[in-house]
Amino acid sequence: EKGGYDHFMLKEIYEQPHSIANCMRGRIDHERKKINLGGISEYAAKLLTAKRIIIVSCGTSWHAGLVGEYLIEEYARIPVEVEYASEFRYRHPIINQDDIVIAISQSGETADTIAAIELAKRAGATILGICNVVGSSIPRLSHTGMYTHAGPEIGVASTKAFTAQVTALSLLALYLAQQQERLPLSKITSLLTALETAPALITTCFQSNALIQHIAGEIKDSTNCLFLGRGINFPVALEGALKLKEISYIHAEGYPAAEMKHGPIALIDEQMPVIVIATKDSSYDKIISNIQEVKARKGKIIAIITEGDTVIRAIADYIIEIPPCEEALTPILATIPLQLLAYHIAVMRGCNVDQPRNLAKSVTVE
Ligand code: M6R
Repeated sequence: EKGGYDHFMLKEIYEQPHSIANCMRGRIDHERKKINLGGISEYAAKLLTAKRIIIVSCGTSWHAGLVGEYLIEEYARIPVEVEYASEFRYRHPIINQDDIVIAISQSGETADTIAAIELAKRAGATILGICNVVGSSIPRLSHTGMYTHAGPEIGVASTKAFTAQVTALSLLALYLAQQQERLPLSKITSLLTALETAPALITTCFQSNALIQHIAGEIKDSTNCLFLGRGINFPVALEGALKLKEISYIHAEGYPAAEMKHGPIALIDEQMPVIVIATKDSSYDKIISNIQEVKARKGKIIAIITEGDTVIRAIADYIIEIPPCEEALTPILATIPLQLLAYHIAVMRGCNVDQPRNLAKSVTVE
C-alpha cells in the first residue's frame, strides 16, 4: 500500500509530479492556451466583480492561501485577505454580499474552516471551496469550487495536497486574469507553459534527495531551525517550518526574511541552521543581504537556490538547487526539498513520520 516506500509521506512526496498533473488535467486548453474551470464558470461574473476575496483555512492549507494571495493579487488585481479560519470565525468579521470566501482544505472536514464558511454564507458571501476529498463537507457547503485531485493523502503531514492547492490557486488566478483580459496573452501563455512543465521540474528536484539526506544528517540534532523566504516564497518558509516541527519535533519558525532583524536575529548563532529560499526571483538581491546577515552571526546557511547560481553557492554552507522557472512556480518547486528535509530528519530522529504525536489527519474539533 505504500508502493515500496518506507512511509506514506515519502510516497506522497514522490507522487507530486502526478498529483499536480491530475490537478491540471482537463483545466488547460493546450491549443488555445486557455484555462477552463467548468464548475466555477457559473460564478465567473461574481468572482470578477468581487471587491475582495477572503481566504479561510488552517495549517498547511493556510500557507497555500498565502501563496494564493500573491498570485491572485498579482495576476487578477483583486484584493485578497488570508485568515486563519479559527480567528476569522470568532472575531465578528465584516463580510459583504459581494465578498468571495475561498475555503481551502485537504480533508474538507476541518471544523474551524467549516464554521468560518457557514458564518460567511449566512452573511451572504459566495463560497468557493478548494478541497481534496471528494464529497466531503466543505465542497457540499460551498456554492462552487475546485477539487485539487491530488488523490488520497494518508500521511498526517500534508505534502502533495499543498502543492495541488497551490496549483489550483494558480489556475484560479490565471483564470480570473484571462476573464478580465488584464494580462497580455503572452504572459498568460508563458505562465501556463510554466505550470505545464511543473511535473517534470518536480522530478528534477528529486535528484537532490541524497544531498538533502546528507544535510539532514548534519542538522538533525539541532533544537531550533529558522526558515526564511520573501515574497511569494515567504509562505514556503512557513510551510517548511511547519513540516519540520510537526514530524521531527524540532522547534522551527518560518519568517519573512526581512522580519529577521526585528527579533529572530537574536537567536542566530553557530548552532542555528537557517534554511533560506533564495531563488533567482524578484526578491533575489534582498535575500542575499539577509543571507549575509545570518552569515555574519555564524548561522549555518542552507540555501534553496536556482540551478547554476554561483553567488549564493559561495556564501552558503549547503545549497540545494531547483531548476530555473517562472517566479510563480517557485513555491511549488522550493517546497519539495523542504518536505524531503523534514522527512529525512524525522526518520533519523526515529519519529513516527506518518502519525506524529498529538496530531490527527483531519481536525474535526474546534
Ligand atoms: O484538511 P485541512 O487542509 O483543512 O487541514 C488543515 C490542517 O489541519 C493541516 O494542513 C495540518 O496543518 C497538516 N497536518 C499540516 O501538515
